[in-house]
Amino acid sequence: MLTTRPRGTNDILPGEVEKWQQLEEVLRKVAALYGYKEIRTPVFEHTELFQRGVGETTDIVEKEMYTFTDRGERSLTLRPEATASVVRAFVENKLFALPQPTKLYYIGPMFRYDRPQAGRYRQFHQFDVEVFGSNSPTVDAEVIAMAMDIYEWLGLKGLKVELNSVGCASCRPVHRQALQKHLEAKKDELCPTCQSRFERNPLRILDCKNPPCQELVKEAPTIDQHLCPECKESFEAVQEQLKALGVPFHLNPRLVRGLDYYVQTAFEIVAEGIGAQSSVGGGGRYDGLVEQIGGPALPAIGFALGMERILLAMEQQGLTIGKEASFDVYIAPLGESAQIPSAVLAQRLRKAGLAVERDYLKRSLKAQLKAADRFLVKYTVIMGEEELKNNQVVLRDMHDSSQLVLKLDEVEGYLKQELGKEDKGK
Ligand code: HAM
Repeated sequence: MLTTRPRGTNDILPGEVEKWQQLEEVLRKVAALYGYKEIRTPVFEHTELFQRGVGETTDIVEKEMYTFTDRGERSLTLRPEATASVVRAFVENKLFALPQPTKLYYIGPMFRYDRPQAGRYRQFHQFDVEVFGSNSPTVDAEVIAMAMDIYEWLGLKGLKVELNSVGCASCRPVHRQALQKHLEAKKDELCPTCQSRFERNPLRILDCKNPPCQELVKEAPTIDQHLCPECKESFEAVQEQLKALGVPFHLNPRLVRGLDYYVQTAFEIVAEGIGAQSSVGGGGRYDGLVEQIGGPALPAIGFALGMERILLAMEQQGLTIGKEASFDVYIAPLGESAQIPSAVLAQRLRKAGLAVERDYLKRSLKAQLKAADRFLVKYTVIMGEEELKNNQVVLRDMHDSSQLVLKLDEVEGYLKQELGKEDKGK
């Protein structure tokens, strides 16, 4: 146990972490282009927030939350998603009092007690965006276009937008009734989970992965047959705008998202070829949630991208991001009296903005040059005892093995010039 990580979690090691850093860089860049500001909220929240926000009858709340009681007897939960937390922070910090809309983004780990497999983990990472304060279909289309833009920045191809409207509080009950009526006679043939969903949340049956349930809902009425005039109008406007923006989409009237807060626009972005967990992102409109969590009646929409799945899809498509960090210079001290001067030089070069690696093991020159080669540095500063007596060092060009004697206080200027480094603060 001591040497195994918990099931469904990952160590992101050097060599891999560079991909994450570059992915985050792209995400932050695109977020800034679209006018989003970063928000960071706690990793755990009061359990009630997710029960009420995500929905009591969802798989996430019923089966997947990491809930614990703290030493003060409070029930807390590691966040399974970010939307409820961001809404809580939006309300608690009265961000609604600022001029709207508010556009926020979030990058961080989420926790779901799910069955781990490729692309599905118990700790995974999302890039999440939320827009508060507008119910304009322009925002819906822009949010979907932004998600697709991110994939484009990353070079990903062949992704599909699945789009649906899940209706609102006035049309959903009509659909719910029609669905129950359709399934009534064959209720007993549903899987046990769907049987329990029949009364509590029959819409979720549409999303069941069990083949018998899928067969039973094949002919079931879909939401598009019951949308009220407002939902219909808004859905048509979103589609029209997506077409104008050149974002292809595929209408899927059976798309039911796994969270209960959605109204009207709901979407998922699907990547082929990354296995069963093909949804690389998803989101939708959640106009009632801010009010439900104690804020004013403000509309909102957002989406989240699964970062592990994006990296998986990139790997599948042979797209590489992230190169291992390399050093600018290696310092090779030889002998005892070179130790302090080498520490001083390393520090001085780092303060000047150079990435410096050095020997800490008092190895032979040969071993140190081998290490320098491994770090792919262009230069090694060899600090021999004899040269240091004259305040000199040897600078070795690792590419052509040529060497040059420099005064100790010339090293910084020479390297900065050769490596094209700017002075700090310029
Ligand atoms: P979600 O569909 O539950 O939506 O998750 C969004 C994305 O997170 C998924 O499309 C998937 O890429 C990734 N994901 C989910 N579960 C896992 C897992 N166990 N392992 C790896 N990746 C996973 C939400 O979470 C909503 N909060 C999105 C949203 C924001 N809606 C409005 N605003």
